[in-house]
Amino acid sequence: MKRLYLQEVATRDGFQNEKTFIDTEQKIALIDKLSQCGYAKIEVTSFTSPKAIPALRDAEAVMAGIQRQKGVEYTVLVPNVRGAERALGCGIDEANLVMSVSEPHNRSNLRMTREQSFAQLRDVVGVIGRGPVAVNVSLSTVFGCPMQGDVAADDVLGWVGRFAELGVRGVTLCDTTGMAYPTQVEALSRQVRERFPELQLTLHFHNTRGMALANTLAALQAGIDRFDASLGGLGGCPYAPGASGNVCMEDLVHMLDLMGYDTGLQLDRVLAASARLPGLIGHATPSQILKAGKRLDLHPIPEHVHTLTQQVAHHD
Ligand code: COA
Ligand code: ZN
Repeated sequence: MKRLYLQEVATRDGFQNEKTFIDTEQKIALIDKLSQCGYAKIEVTSFTSPKAIPALRDAEAVMAGIQRQKGVEYTVLVPNVRGAERALGCGIDEANLVMSVSEPHNRSNLRMTREQSFAQLRDVVGVIGRGPVAVNVSLSTVFGCPMQGDVAADDVLGWVGRFAELGVRGVTLCDTTGMAYPTQVEALSRQVRERFPELQLTLHFHNTRGMALANTLAALQAGIDRFDASLGGLGGCPYAPGASGNVCMEDLVHMLDLMGYDTGLQLDRVLAASARLPGLIGHATPSQILKAGKRLDLHPIPEHVHTLTQQVAHHD
């Protein structure tokens, strides 16, 4: 059975986008539940400016409150040196740095040019050093930008290359606003894998245009084994017009289980965690499996069918 590595991003990519502030204790309780599900990684929170992302202004308290499980990596989003210092003080396993490969999206999300972002992130890599904390870089809008349009594969390869040279452990190719389509995903995934075989490569899809599961299959065909997804399908970038949720974790795991992949995850526990979300965020989530149940969650045969069957038998 091929092993895949699934990374939960609901409490960062998901919660950063929620209008109501989710209580710190509730965040901690949810993450503790997620820690029991079998994830490879959980992106707990982000150490951004509380003015920019007020929903995650309690990052320190959340990191201090959670009970960590062996075998699960706890990662956090870090935008700058200030964020790195705050995060290092909390004993993170990995810092997830972020910049966009599109100039207009980088400017609207991070209020800097890409070159300024790169310079800042190089400083962050320097602060984190070669110690026990790993560095991952999430590259936004890799498959298209809602302001610029298409992004050239060579641009993407160029940015991946610059971070690889800095010695980061991993890179995530993010389809921030659901512009990716399967053939594009397969081609770019292959190119990045071939060019940078030593990088831990993650694919990060949003389901904005309903293509996230199809894109996942395309990435699998290109040999990708690591995916971000979000409990309940929460998520979205507050600085990207029309952005919507990440690929839904339970929908993804349900499909991969049926196909015989080893995701490491216990789907029933993921579903139980997802069922808590509407109570936390005050609205329903786009989860399909929570609504429909698993494929073989069978329903009782209705009474009238029994009666009909008996009548047919009687007439025979
Ligand atoms: N943690 C806490 N506070 C921070 C911070 C950090 N990592 N980085 C900056 N700040 C504070 C500064 O202290 C300053 O506070 P003040 O106004 O009280 O003096 C304020 O934020 C502005 O700082 P500045 O250095 O001018 O940064 P900026 O306004 O250009 O913001 C970012 C830069 C990247 C920190 C900010 O835009 C941000 O956090 N954006 C969020 C990006 C994000 O997470 N997007 C979604 C994920 S893809
Ligand atoms: Zn995202």
